Amino acid sequence: ANIQWFPGHMAKAIRQLEENLPHVDIVFELVDARIPLASRNPEIERLIKNKPHLMILTKSDLADPTQTANWIRFFKANGLPAIAVDSKANITTKAITKITQAVLSDKLATEQTKGLKERPIRAITVGIPNVGKSTLLNRLVNKRVAQVGDTPGVTKGQQWLRSSSKLSLLDTPGILWPKFEDEETGQKLALTGAIKDQRFASDDVALFALRFFRSYYEQALVDRYKLSSADLVLSDVDLLLVITKKLGMKDDYERASDRLILDIRREKLGRYTLDRKEDDQDGQ
Ligand code: G4P
Repeated sequence: ANIQWFPGHMAKAIRQLEENLPHVDIVFELVDARIPLASRNPEIERLIKNKPHLMILTKSDLADPTQTANWIRFFKANGLPAIAVDSKANITTKAITKITQAVLSDKLATEQTKGLKERPIRAITVGIPNVGKSTLLNRLVNKRVAQVGDTPGVTKGQQWLRSSSKLSLLDTPGILWPKFEDEETGQKLALTGAIKDQRFASDDVALFALRFFRSYYEQALVDRYKLSSADLVLSDVDLLLVITKKLGMKDDYERASDRLILDIRREKLGRYTLDRKEDDQDGQ
């Protein structure tokens, strides 16, 4: 999905979410495990008000596992239950069902003591484009067993998909706009592929990537582009030119920038997390 956001799009996204919220027990907020802050919608908390809320860190197979563990702890410490998933993995459905039941255990217990019939938990996935909403939905409903529920009150044209006997999902995810706030957030979104339009020049994104990988994953750069120790003391711009030559692209550093970005997106430099959370921090 490649969406240019205009005020009208935002208003529509908000309206749809507001229509759907009363019908769900819980909101699954999807963020990319490589950028758990940059891929968060800036208004999410206000939009979903006090609805029970589970943070799902998607694409955890691409992220730095230590960082992911730190982020999960951080969110939990701030009262937000959180789980990291690889939507390609089979265990994801079970894991999400289990944590969802735990998050809603009080509410479900209250319903039982009131003698209400046991029913599936109803959830909606929300998140910015490309965060993995449809992939997770497909995983959760296991493609073939998708069933139409007859729950009243769902917005016209939408359906409940049965995930397990315990969980149903609204078939239409909430698409939220990303943060447009600052340059660095934009570069993180561009580098991970969350934003694919040309808003960010690829050489700027490549220089950001070089600076970042030099700080946190230098060896991955050395291995991938056969860098020498002399290369490592160069400025980011000069290093980009060295890599351009090593890639056989003469002085076409824009083409080399695109390649570097693609390599990083395709995990050729290994797993990485751009939004850092160190273990001992619990503030932002
Ligand atoms: P959306 O509905 O939120 O817009 O996202 P969607 O599910 O379409 O996922 C966007 C891309 O992210 C897809 O790649 C999808 O395969 C990938 N993806 C989703 N979840 C995971 C995950 O847990 N792990 C990994 N490794 N990838 C995941 P794509 O179709 O190839 O598009 P792209 O790579 O060109 O963006």
